[in-house]
Amino acid sequence: MTTTITLTGAGGQIGYALLFRIAAGDLLGPDEPVRLRLLEIPQGLGAAEGAALELQDGAFGLLEHVEVTDDPAVGFDGADLALLVGARPRGPGMERGDLLAANAGIFGPQGAAIAAHAASGVRVTVVGNPANTNALIAAASADGVPAERFTALTRLDENRARAQVAQTLSVPVDEVRQVIIWGNHSATQFPDLSQATVAGQSALDALSTTVGDVRAWQEDSFIPRVAGRGAEVIQVRGSSSVASAASATIDHVRDWVLGSEEWTSAGVVSHGEYGVPEGLISSFPVRSENGSWQIVEGLEIGEWARARIDASVAELLDEREAVRALGML
Ligand code: NAI
Repeated sequence: MTTTITLTGAGGQIGYALLFRIAAGDLLGPDEPVRLRLLEIPQGLGAAEGAALELQDGAFGLLEHVEVTDDPAVGFDGADLALLVGARPRGPGMERGDLLAANAGIFGPQGAAIAAHAASGVRVTVVGNPANTNALIAAASADGVPAERFTALTRLDENRARAQVAQTLSVPVDEVRQVIIWGNHSATQFPDLSQATVAGQSALDALSTTVGDVRAWQEDSFIPRVAGRGAEVIQVRGSSSVASAASATIDHVRDWVLGSEEWTSAGVVSHGEYGVPEGLISSFPVRSENGSWQIVEGLEIGEWARARIDASVAELLDEREAVRALGML
């Protein structure tokens, strides 16, 4: 059966990197045909239409149809998967409240359009920043769609963290598992190595033989490097993380849909797990079973980790309050 995938912000950079991966079968596998719906705002339609021409020219056997639109009712029609990448970036002089309000004006109506037009089993992945709170707003506006179907991308942070550990230990990145991202996809996120393994052994033990004081290394080097990696890429490349963000989006959706026994991290709705207030979309360790994310429960959280998780969750609470104060939740 053909899967209908809606991509917002399809005329943007991440959209351009994502589309060709999806069409090539990287998302759902080499035997799953896809239908793409590219949703843009009027200013972005030309770029999305150009991408659609190139998709045709890619002669992808799996790609059944591409539709470009600026109408959310058309864009989300029958969507099985919705990738919400388009967002309002922070402009010069824009305060956080203005940014939240501008994005609430995008993600609220998109949530409503998803509820009205998408397939009943729709799964939504929010990439556009501030991703966690945008996902919260979309979920709150999508009457009748369970909040569990709305997620925020923190897989890029996890991939970055795994890569840093692999680099530090000079091991293949595939050997690094169970790295957790907690909280918000922002500078307050907590990349947690307490459960991480390297070739089945404790990552912290392996790291302590390489870096010495592993707590100091996490505080002074690892956490700032992971949380600040977006800025580092901008500085070196002269442009933001695009291909790695698209790749992480593919990882997130593929694991969600096809299942993953391995732990990964995703922004999912809290039911109060690990003391995270109910209803927030916060990053947790998750596993995907039968097409739904399950939070990995029962992990021991030490005092040091607790304070870091609480700080990031406090930021999510602040964002929720700010959006509520604007009357948008
Ligand atoms: P971009 O500026 O190149 O593209 C964004 C596109 O979204 C533009 O074409 C714009 O016209 C479109 N757009 C804006 N409002 C829209 C709406 N209401 N409906 C449909 N389309 C709309 O930006 P880029 O580089 O593609 O990044 C997209 C977003 O992803 C940004 O918010 C960025 O901060 C975020 N991001 C998130 C990451 C994560 O790990 N969660 C990682 C990297 C980027």
